[in-house]
Amino acid sequence: MSMTQRPPMPSFLPESAPFTVEQRTWLDGLFAGLFSLEGGVTPLSTEQAAKLLPGLLDGGAAAPAELDDGAPWHDPAMPLLGRMKLAEGRPLPRRLMAAMAQQDCGQCGYNCQDYAAALSVRKEERLNLCVPGGKDTARMLKQLYAELGVAPPAARAEAAPAQATPVVPVSAAGRSRDNPVYATFHSRYRLNKPGSEKETWHIEFDLAESGLDYTVGDSFGIYPANDAALVDAVLAALEAPPDFPIGGRTLRETLTDGVSLSPAPDMLFQLISYLTGGDRRQKAKALAAGQDPDGDAGVLDVLAALQKFPGIRPDPEAFIESLDPLQPRVYSISSSLKRNPGRVSLTVDAVRYEVEKRTRLGVASTFLGSRVSPGDKIRVYVQKAQHFALPADPKVPIIMIGPGTGMAPFRAFLQERMATKAPGRNWLFFGHQRSDYDFFYKDELVAMRSTGLLSRLTLAWSRDGDEKIYVQDRMRDDGRDLWAWLADGAHIYVCGDATRMAKDVERALVDVIAQHGARSPSEAVKFVTELKTQGRFQTDVY
Ligand SMILES: Cc1cc2nc3c(=O)[nH]c(=O)nc-3n(C[C@H](O)[C@H](O)[C@H](O)COP(=O)(O)OP(=O)(O)OC[C@H]3O[C@@H](n4cnc5c(N)ncnc54)[C@H](O)[C@@H]3O)c2cc1C
Ligand SMILES: NC(=O)c1ccc[n+]([C@@H]2O[C@H](COP(=O)([O-])OP(=O)(O)OC[C@H]3O[C@@H](n4cnc5c(N)ncnc54)[C@H](OP(=O)(O)O)[C@@H]3O)[C@@H](O)[C@H]2O)c1
Repeated sequence: MSMTQRPPMPSFLPESAPFTVEQRTWLDGLFAGLFSLEGGVTPLSTEQAAKLLPGLLDGGAAAPAELDDGAPWHDPAMPLLGRMKLAEGRPLPRRLMAAMAQQDCGQCGYNCQDYAAALSVRKEERLNLCVPGGKDTARMLKQLYAELGVAPPAARAEAAPAQATPVVPVSAAGRSRDNPVYATFHSRYRLNKPGSEKETWHIEFDLAESGLDYTVGDSFGIYPANDAALVDAVLAALEAPPDFPIGGRTLRETLTDGVSLSPAPDMLFQLISYLTGGDRRQKAKALAAGQDPDGDAGVLDVLAALQKFPGIRPDPEAFIESLDPLQPRVYSISSSLKRNPGRVSLTVDAVRYEVEKRTRLGVASTFLGSRVSPGDKIRVYVQKAQHFALPADPKVPIIMIGPGTGMAPFRAFLQERMATKAPGRNWLFFGHQRSDYDFFYKDELVAMRSTGLLSRLTLAWSRDGDEKIYVQDRMRDDGRDLWAWLADGAHIYVCGDATRMAKDVERALVDVIAQHGARSPSEAVKFVTELKTQGRFQTDVY
């Protein structure tokens, strides 16, 4: 192949414009034809882009026909309204799909297209399964579901599976969210050094009694429990007795592992509107309708909602029914069974943030990072990877791009390739905030580098210096070699943040292929599309 270099095509679109690499390239090509490229290129402002692209950015006319093929809304970085606009006029299953978060993360038990199809034929009735889409997706699904001419089903508490009524076929034990098994929490240790701004944990479970096994690339689902202090605060705000009976369990037990105490659902505000009057009633009704009368709707979790309407004292049973079920969360598996028989490990970033002086906790990540204790039995399942696996041929080289917790499945890949003595070359791009504090699994990686298992280890530290260095900058720096690996048949993998990183990495890949593979930008995009079709470019993003 010729190694003649061509500069990557400059982009007219603002970074924030919600397009995939393919869409950007098509649009940049269009703009390049409309404007002279002499004198350089200034990216369009979002407003300019909106004028030129009504319908895609600001809700005007329909999408250009070329963008209208193959679920163009299937992009996790695109906002919900943009996705709905692209799906306008499409059959209901397509619009249902567009309402989902487009991560194909499998947390709902489906990919986005299959969840939409199941809803549209009423094989699935749960409208609140899309964890990354959250309340906005649930609300849009409810609106769309009304087109079926049937009342939307009530939220179904499913955290205690024995009581739940699964509406999808039940899989083998421990192989889906609908049929979890118990595994024993073994241990955790912190992966960042003191002084880090992050709190990331290496988590281990003992699988001996669960009978579970897994393949590298799979994810691990866990059913978490809410923080006891938050449960106490909700009980106090409700002014209800903790032992109030709810379907054979106590109110405290149900609040602990049966319902989500995170974003306050519309149903809770509806309930509150029935229990109060005047201005308060109007506010509760507005919140139930998805409006934001006081500008705080986005930060109202269940406790904050109760505190906003003090003294309402709903019946505990009605209150529980108004809440969403507590959903499981999934984590990329960061170990290989071949190196760790009977064990599974995860790499978990603990989500904690402040809202009006109260620390809010990500339910599952802080459950794993601080609340669960060695020996505790936790309900878990293995979520099989759909399209995220090592190449079948162990000689094939692999390139792995995993900043932050995105490194998790690649630790598993490397352990597997070590255990199987796979001869293929391995190149890892890892990035995080600071080299001194956030170099996860440093000793292991350095050892793998010195034994030659890791042919290359490329690091990107975003907060070591004045300038942010990200993995995609390193990919561009090493573009010539990256291209040479691809030309040798390497598979390339990306794991981690879906909304920004994965998109930026894909753009860098297109640029590298254009520049070092002597291809035009549209040929480079086609090359990446072919890599995807051939299963040589795989992503696990969230
Ligand atoms: C296939 C897959 C693999 C995954 N692998 C991993 C992995 O290896 N490691 C890992 O750590 N995670 C991974 N995740 C993400 C994981 O599943 C959870 O989503 C994550 O741990 C957060 O869950 P939580 O229950 O702790 O937080 P939640 O209780 O779900 O809270 C998270 C929510 O809090 C809000 N929030 C968070 N930060 C802020 C803030 N600063 N300000 C305001 N609001 C905020 C946002 O609304 C966010 O959606 C993966 C996800 C998928 C789908
Ligand atoms: N939506 C958000 O705003 C947001 C932000 C952070 C994390 N998250 C989520 O939090 C979870 C855990 O995050 P994590 O601990 O794995 O790591 P992370 O917080 O995502 O950060 C890992 C590294 O990636 C860098 N990074 C930030 N933006 C990037 C981009 N566009 N391209 C490439 N690298 C980028 C970070 O740099 P800097 O932080 O120094 O810029 C950091 O060095 C993930 O689920 C992630 O999606 C979401």
